[in-house]
Amino acid sequence: MSQILVAGGAGYIGSHTVKELRARGYDVVVFDDLSNGRRDFVRDTELIVGDLMDREAVRAAFRGRDIAAVLHFASLIQVGESYVHPRKYYGRNLVTSLNLLDAVIDAGVQAFIFSSSAAVYGIPRRTPLDEDHPTAPINPYGWTKLMVERILQDYDRAYGLKFISLRYFNASGADPDGTLGECHNPETHLIPNILRALSGWQEALEIYGEDFPTPDGTAVRDYIHVSDLAIAHVLALGALGRLRRSEFINLGTNRGYSVREVVAEAERLTGRKVPVRMRPRREGDVPVLLASKEKAEKVLGWAPRYSDLETIIETARRWHEKA
Ligand code: UFG
Repeated sequence: MSQILVAGGAGYIGSHTVKELRARGYDVVVFDDLSNGRRDFVRDTELIVGDLMDREAVRAAFRGRDIAAVLHFASLIQVGESYVHPRKYYGRNLVTSLNLLDAVIDAGVQAFIFSSSAAVYGIPRRTPLDEDHPTAPINPYGWTKLMVERILQDYDRAYGLKFISLRYFNASGADPDGTLGECHNPETHLIPNILRALSGWQEALEIYGEDFPTPDGTAVRDYIHVSDLAIAHVLALGALGRLRRSEFINLGTNRGYSVREVVAEAERLTGRKVPVRMRPRREGDVPVLLASKEKAEKVLGWAPRYSDLETIIETARRWHEKA
Protein backbone atom coordinates (compact mmCIF):
# COMPACT_ATOMS: atom_id res chain seq x y z
CA MET A 1 0.00 0.00 0.00
CA SER A 2 1.27 3.47 -0.81
CA GLN A 3 2.27 5.82 1.99
CA ILE A 4 2.13 9.53 2.75
CA LEU A 5 5.46 10.92 3.93
CA VAL A 6 5.11 13.75 6.42
CA ALA A 7 8.24 15.84 7.02
CA GLY A 8 7.94 17.58 10.37
CA GLY A 9 5.09 15.25 11.39
CA ALA A 10 6.12 15.30 15.05
CA GLY A 11 5.64 19.07 15.35
CA TYR A 12 2.62 21.13 16.28
CA ILE A 13 0.63 21.31 13.03
CA GLY A 14 2.27 18.21 11.54
CA SER A 15 1.22 15.93 14.39
CA HIS A 16 -2.39 17.08 14.27
CA THR A 17 -2.40 16.40 10.53
CA VAL A 18 -0.85 12.95 10.97
CA LYS A 19 -3.60 12.13 13.45
CA GLU A 20 -6.25 13.26 10.96
CA LEU A 21 -4.64 11.34 8.08
CA ARG A 22 -4.54 8.16 10.14
CA ALA A 23 -8.18 8.63 11.13
CA ARG A 24 -9.03 8.76 7.41
CA GLY A 25 -7.19 5.49 6.77
CA TYR A 26 -3.97 6.80 5.22
CA ASP A 27 -0.74 4.89 5.80
CA VAL A 28 1.71 7.51 7.08
CA VAL A 29 5.44 7.67 7.66
CA VAL A 30 6.85 10.64 9.59
CA PHE A 31 10.32 12.09 8.96
CA ASP A 32 11.40 14.41 11.78
CA ASP A 33 14.63 15.31 13.56
CA LEU A 34 12.70 15.87 16.82
CA SER A 35 14.39 19.27 17.27
CA ASN A 36 10.98 20.83 17.82
CA GLY A 37 8.80 17.80 17.40
CA ARG A 38 8.03 15.19 20.05
CA ARG A 39 8.23 11.45 19.73
CA ASP A 40 5.07 10.96 21.80
CA PHE A 41 3.12 13.15 19.32
CA VAL A 42 3.72 10.51 16.63
CA ARG A 43 2.33 7.70 18.77
CA ASP A 44 2.18 4.44 16.80
CA THR A 45 2.82 6.03 13.39
CA GLU A 46 6.08 4.96 11.78
CA LEU A 47 8.80 7.51 12.59
CA ILE A 48 12.11 8.03 10.82
CA VAL A 49 14.33 10.24 12.98
CA GLY A 50 16.37 12.20 10.49
CA ASP A 51 17.51 15.67 9.53
CA LEU A 52 16.33 17.21 6.26
CA MET A 53 19.73 18.92 6.02
CA ASP A 54 21.17 15.44 5.47
CA ARG A 55 20.55 14.75 1.78
CA GLU A 56 21.40 11.07 2.05
CA ALA A 57 19.10 10.50 5.01
CA VAL A 58 16.25 12.11 3.08
CA ARG A 59 16.85 9.99 0.00
CA ALA A 60 17.11 6.86 2.13
CA ALA A 61 13.66 7.56 3.57
CA PHE A 62 12.14 7.13 0.10
CA ARG A 63 14.02 3.94 -0.77
CA GLY A 64 11.95 0.79 -0.81
CA ARG A 65 8.71 2.68 -0.23
CA ASP A 66 5.82 3.59 -2.45
CA ILE A 67 5.28 7.23 -1.48
CA ALA A 68 2.13 8.69 -3.03
CA ALA A 69 2.45 12.21 -1.62
CA VAL A 70 4.65 14.32 0.62
CA LEU A 71 3.55 16.90 3.18
CA HIS A 72 6.25 19.36 4.27
CA PHE A 73 5.78 21.00 7.70
CA ALA A 74 9.40 21.12 8.84
CA SER A 75 10.53 24.70 9.23
CA LEU A 76 11.97 27.31 11.53
CA ILE A 77 9.08 29.65 12.34
CA GLN A 78 10.17 32.57 14.48
CA VAL A 79 9.78 35.81 12.62
CA GLY A 80 11.87 37.85 15.10
CA GLU A 81 14.73 35.36 15.10
CA SER A 82 14.76 35.38 11.31
CA TYR A 83 15.65 39.09 11.36
CA VAL A 84 18.56 38.50 13.69
CA HIS A 85 19.82 35.24 12.16
CA PRO A 86 18.79 35.33 8.50
CA ARG A 87 21.46 32.86 7.42
CA LYS A 88 20.05 30.30 9.83
CA TYR A 89 16.62 30.75 8.23
CA TYR A 90 17.72 30.77 4.59
CA GLY A 91 20.16 27.98 5.34
CA ARG A 92 17.69 25.66 6.99
CA ASN A 93 14.33 26.48 5.45
CA LEU A 94 15.64 26.53 1.89
CA VAL A 95 18.20 23.70 2.01
CA THR A 96 15.81 21.35 3.81
CA SER A 97 13.10 22.05 1.24
CA LEU A 98 15.50 21.57 -1.68
CA ASN A 99 16.75 18.27 -0.27
CA LEU A 100 13.22 17.04 0.25
CA LEU A 101 12.12 18.16 -3.21
CA ASP A 102 15.12 16.45 -4.84
CA ALA A 103 14.12 13.19 -3.24
CA VAL A 104 10.49 13.78 -4.24
CA ILE A 105 11.36 14.36 -7.91
CA ASP A 106 13.82 11.45 -8.08
CA ALA A 107 11.31 9.10 -6.50
CA GLY A 108 8.68 10.17 -9.05
CA VAL A 109 6.29 11.51 -6.38
CA GLN A 110 3.90 13.96 -8.01
CA ALA A 111 1.90 15.36 -5.10
CA PHE A 112 3.32 17.81 -2.56
CA ILE A 113 1.68 19.90 0.15
CA PHE A 114 3.65 22.79 1.56
CA SER A 115 3.18 24.66 4.84
CA SER A 116 3.33 28.27 3.78
CA SER A 117 2.30 31.37 5.69
CA ALA A 118 0.40 34.63 5.55
CA ALA A 119 3.88 36.09 5.98
CA VAL A 120 4.34 35.82 2.19
CA TYR A 121 1.98 38.77 1.70
CA GLY A 122 3.88 41.29 3.84
CA ILE A 123 1.96 44.47 4.60
CA PRO A 124 -1.66 44.05 3.45
CA ARG A 125 -2.80 46.51 0.78
CA ARG A 126 -6.36 45.30 1.13
CA THR A 127 -8.20 43.16 3.60
CA PRO A 128 -9.21 40.36 3.75
CA LEU A 129 -6.19 38.97 1.91
CA ASP A 130 -7.03 36.84 -1.10
CA GLU A 131 -4.50 34.64 -2.85
CA ASP A 132 -4.03 37.15 -5.69
CA HIS A 133 -2.82 39.81 -3.28
CA PRO A 134 0.77 40.75 -4.17
CA THR A 135 3.44 38.86 -2.25
CA ALA A 136 6.08 41.05 -0.60
CA PRO A 137 7.41 39.54 2.64
CA ILE A 138 8.85 41.91 5.24
CA ASN A 139 11.06 39.40 7.06
CA PRO A 140 13.47 36.60 6.13
CA TYR A 141 11.05 33.97 7.47
CA GLY A 142 8.37 35.11 5.01
CA TRP A 143 10.93 35.21 2.21
CA THR A 144 11.93 31.60 2.81
CA LYS A 145 8.27 30.59 2.43
CA LEU A 146 7.84 32.64 -0.74
CA MET A 147 11.08 31.29 -2.22
CA VAL A 148 9.95 27.71 -1.70
CA GLU A 149 6.65 28.60 -3.38
CA ARG A 150 8.65 29.95 -6.36
CA ILE A 151 10.74 26.75 -6.52
CA LEU A 152 7.55 24.68 -6.44
CA GLN A 153 6.17 26.56 -9.45
CA ASP A 154 9.32 25.88 -11.45
CA TYR A 155 9.31 22.21 -10.44
CA ASP A 156 5.70 21.95 -11.56
CA ARG A 157 6.54 23.42 -14.96
CA ALA A 158 9.71 21.36 -15.46
CA TYR A 159 8.96 18.09 -13.66
CA GLY A 160 5.17 18.00 -13.45
CA LEU A 161 5.16 18.14 -9.64
CA LYS A 162 1.68 19.16 -8.50
CA PHE A 163 1.54 21.04 -5.22
CA ILE A 164 -0.80 22.86 -2.92
CA SER A 165 0.80 25.59 -0.86
CA LEU A 166 -1.32 26.26 2.21
CA ARG A 167 -0.83 29.76 3.58
CA TYR A 168 -1.67 29.54 7.27
CA PHE A 169 -2.84 32.54 9.21
CA ASN A 170 -2.56 32.28 13.02
CA ALA A 171 -2.43 28.60 13.91
CA SER A 172 -3.71 28.10 17.44
CA GLY A 173 -5.58 25.76 19.80
CA ALA A 174 -4.91 22.09 20.48
CA ASP A 175 -6.39 18.71 19.74
CA PRO A 176 -9.79 18.51 21.47
CA ASP A 177 -8.87 15.09 22.96
CA GLY A 178 -5.99 16.75 24.84
CA THR A 179 -3.17 14.54 23.54
CA LEU A 180 -1.46 17.03 21.20
CA GLY A 181 -0.72 20.72 21.50
CA GLU A 182 1.63 23.60 21.05
CA CYS A 183 5.06 23.57 22.68
CA HIS A 184 7.53 25.96 21.18
CA ASN A 185 10.73 26.94 22.89
CA PRO A 186 10.89 29.83 23.37
CA GLU A 187 7.16 30.45 23.15
CA THR A 188 6.36 33.61 21.19
CA HIS A 189 2.70 33.09 20.30
CA LEU A 190 -0.10 35.04 21.88
CA ILE A 191 -2.47 32.38 23.24
CA PRO A 192 0.18 30.16 24.88
CA ASN A 193 1.68 33.30 26.41
CA ILE A 194 -1.69 34.35 27.83
CA LEU A 195 -2.00 30.90 29.41
CA ARG A 196 1.53 31.12 30.77
CA ALA A 197 0.75 34.48 32.34
CA LEU A 198 -2.46 33.07 33.85
CA SER A 199 -0.65 30.12 35.41
CA GLY A 200 2.26 32.19 36.71
CA TRP A 201 4.83 30.66 34.34
CA GLN A 202 5.59 34.19 33.30
CA GLU A 203 5.02 37.32 35.32
CA ALA A 204 2.74 39.04 32.84
CA LEU A 205 1.57 38.97 29.26
CA GLU A 206 3.50 41.55 27.30
CA ILE A 207 1.23 43.27 24.79
CA TYR A 208 3.25 44.49 21.83
CA GLY A 209 1.75 47.79 20.77
CA GLU A 210 -1.44 49.65 21.59
CA ASP A 211 -1.10 52.32 18.92
CA PHE A 212 -2.18 50.33 15.88
CA PRO A 213 -4.96 51.77 13.70
CA THR A 214 -7.49 49.25 15.05
CA PRO A 215 -10.58 49.84 17.25
CA ASP A 216 -8.74 49.16 20.55
CA GLY A 217 -5.21 49.93 19.33
CA THR A 218 -3.93 46.34 19.52
CA ALA A 219 -3.16 44.16 16.51
CA VAL A 220 -5.88 42.04 14.90
CA ARG A 221 -5.20 38.46 13.76
CA ASP A 222 -7.14 35.65 12.14
CA TYR A 223 -6.84 32.69 14.55
CA ILE A 224 -7.34 29.30 13.00
CA HIS A 225 -7.66 26.11 15.04
CA VAL A 226 -4.92 23.57 14.38
CA SER A 227 -7.50 20.78 13.88
CA ASP A 228 -9.09 22.84 11.10
CA LEU A 229 -5.64 23.15 9.53
CA ALA A 230 -5.21 19.38 9.82
CA ILE A 231 -8.55 18.74 8.09
CA ALA A 232 -7.57 21.17 5.31
CA HIS A 233 -4.42 19.14 4.61
CA VAL A 234 -6.40 15.95 4.20
CA LEU A 235 -8.80 17.76 1.87
CA ALA A 236 -5.84 19.20 -0.05
CA LEU A 237 -4.48 15.71 -0.58
CA GLY A 238 -7.81 14.66 -2.08
CA ALA A 239 -7.98 17.83 -4.19
CA LEU A 240 -4.50 17.23 -5.63
CA GLY A 241 -5.47 13.76 -6.74
CA ARG A 242 -8.70 15.03 -8.25
CA LEU A 243 -7.62 18.30 -9.87
CA ARG A 244 -4.04 17.51 -10.87
CA ARG A 245 -3.11 21.19 -10.73
CA SER A 246 -1.13 23.33 -8.34
CA GLU A 247 -2.72 25.94 -6.07
CA PHE A 248 -1.94 28.52 -3.40
CA ILE A 249 -4.64 28.54 -0.74
CA ASN A 250 -5.14 30.66 2.38
CA LEU A 251 -6.22 28.96 5.59
CA GLY A 252 -7.96 31.44 7.83
CA THR A 253 -11.48 32.34 8.93
CA ASN A 254 -11.93 35.94 7.74
CA ARG A 255 -12.79 36.81 11.34
CA GLY A 256 -10.26 38.79 13.33
CA TYR A 257 -9.66 39.35 17.04
CA SER A 258 -7.47 41.99 18.60
CA VAL A 259 -4.93 41.10 21.26
CA ARG A 260 -7.20 42.70 23.85
CA GLU A 261 -10.21 40.72 22.64
CA VAL A 262 -8.27 37.46 22.97
CA VAL A 263 -7.18 38.45 26.47
CA ALA A 264 -10.79 39.35 27.40
CA GLU A 265 -12.07 35.97 26.15
CA ALA A 266 -9.39 34.12 28.12
CA GLU A 267 -10.42 36.08 31.22
CA ARG A 268 -14.11 35.28 30.65
CA LEU A 269 -13.38 31.55 30.22
CA THR A 270 -11.08 31.26 33.23
CA GLY A 271 -12.75 33.82 35.48
CA ARG A 272 -9.29 35.25 36.15
CA LYS A 273 -7.49 38.45 35.30
CA VAL A 274 -4.54 38.22 32.91
CA PRO A 275 -1.62 40.28 34.26
CA VAL A 276 -0.57 42.54 31.41
CA ARG A 277 2.43 44.75 30.68
CA MET A 278 2.46 47.13 27.73
CA ARG A 279 5.41 47.02 25.37
CA PRO A 280 6.29 48.80 22.13
CA ARG A 281 5.34 47.18 18.85
CA ARG A 282 7.30 44.10 17.86
CA GLU A 283 9.31 44.68 14.70
CA GLY A 284 7.49 43.53 11.59
CA ASP A 285 4.03 43.19 13.21
CA VAL A 286 1.30 44.50 10.91
CA PRO A 287 -1.93 46.03 12.30
CA VAL A 288 -4.43 43.58 10.75
CA LEU A 289 -4.11 40.17 9.10
CA LEU A 290 -7.31 38.60 7.80
CA ALA A 291 -7.72 35.78 5.29
CA SER A 292 -10.26 35.48 2.56
CA LYS A 293 -11.42 31.86 2.88
CA GLU A 294 -13.37 31.72 -0.36
CA LYS A 295 -10.76 29.77 -2.29
CA ALA A 296 -10.33 27.18 0.46
CA GLU A 297 -14.09 26.70 0.49
CA LYS A 298 -14.32 26.43 -3.28
CA VAL A 299 -11.25 24.33 -4.10
CA LEU A 300 -11.01 22.18 -0.97
CA GLY A 301 -14.63 22.17 0.21
CA TRP A 302 -13.22 23.30 3.57
CA ALA A 303 -15.00 25.20 6.32
CA PRO A 304 -13.49 25.88 9.75
CA ARG A 305 -15.27 23.89 12.48
CA TYR A 306 -13.16 24.50 15.59
CA SER A 307 -11.96 28.04 15.01
CA ASP A 308 -14.29 30.03 17.26
CA LEU A 309 -12.22 31.78 19.90
CA GLU A 310 -13.81 29.88 22.78
CA THR A 311 -12.88 26.46 21.36
CA ILE A 312 -9.39 27.67 20.47
CA ILE A 313 -8.69 28.96 23.99
CA GLU A 314 -10.43 26.07 25.77
CA THR A 315 -8.51 23.38 23.87
CA ALA A 316 -5.23 25.29 24.28
CA ARG A 317 -5.95 25.60 27.99
CA ARG A 318 -6.66 21.89 28.40
CA TRP A 319 -3.33 21.16 26.75
CA HIS A 320 -1.47 23.79 28.75
CA GLU A 321 -2.78 22.39 32.02
CA LYS A 322 -1.41 18.94 31.18
CA ALA A 323 1.93 20.21 29.91
N1 UFG B 1 1.49 39.24 20.89
C1 UFG B 1 1.56 39.94 22.07
N2 UFG B 1 2.21 39.33 23.13
C2 UFG B 1 2.76 38.10 23.04
C3 UFG B 1 2.68 37.40 21.82
C4 UFG B 1 2.04 38.01 20.76
O1 UFG B 1 1.07 41.06 22.20
O2 UFG B 1 3.34 37.62 24.04
C5 UFG B 1 0.76 39.86 19.77
C6 UFG B 1 1.63 40.04 18.53
O3 UFG B 1 2.30 41.28 18.57
C7 UFG B 1 0.58 39.94 17.41
C8 UFG B 1 -0.46 38.96 17.96
O4 UFG B 1 -0.27 38.98 19.38
O5 UFG B 1 -0.03 41.16 17.23
C9 UFG B 1 -0.27 37.55 17.46
O6 UFG B 1 1.09 37.19 17.66
P1 UFG B 1 1.65 35.72 17.41
O7 UFG B 1 3.10 35.74 17.74
O8 UFG B 1 0.80 34.71 18.09
O9 UFG B 1 1.46 35.51 15.83
P2 UFG B 1 1.97 36.43 14.63
O10 UFG B 1 0.75 37.03 14.02
O11 UFG B 1 3.04 37.33 15.02
O12 UFG B 1 2.65 35.33 13.74
C10 UFG B 1 1.92 34.40 12.99
C11 UFG B 1 2.74 33.12 12.81
C12 UFG B 1 3.97 33.39 12.00
C13 UFG B 1 3.59 34.12 10.72
C14 UFG B 1 2.80 35.35 11.04
C15 UFG B 1 2.39 36.10 9.83
O13 UFG B 1 3.11 32.61 14.06
O14 UFG B 1 4.58 32.18 11.67
O15 UFG B 1 1.64 34.97 11.77
O16 UFG B 1 1.68 35.30 9.02
F1 UFG B 1 4.70 34.48 10.06
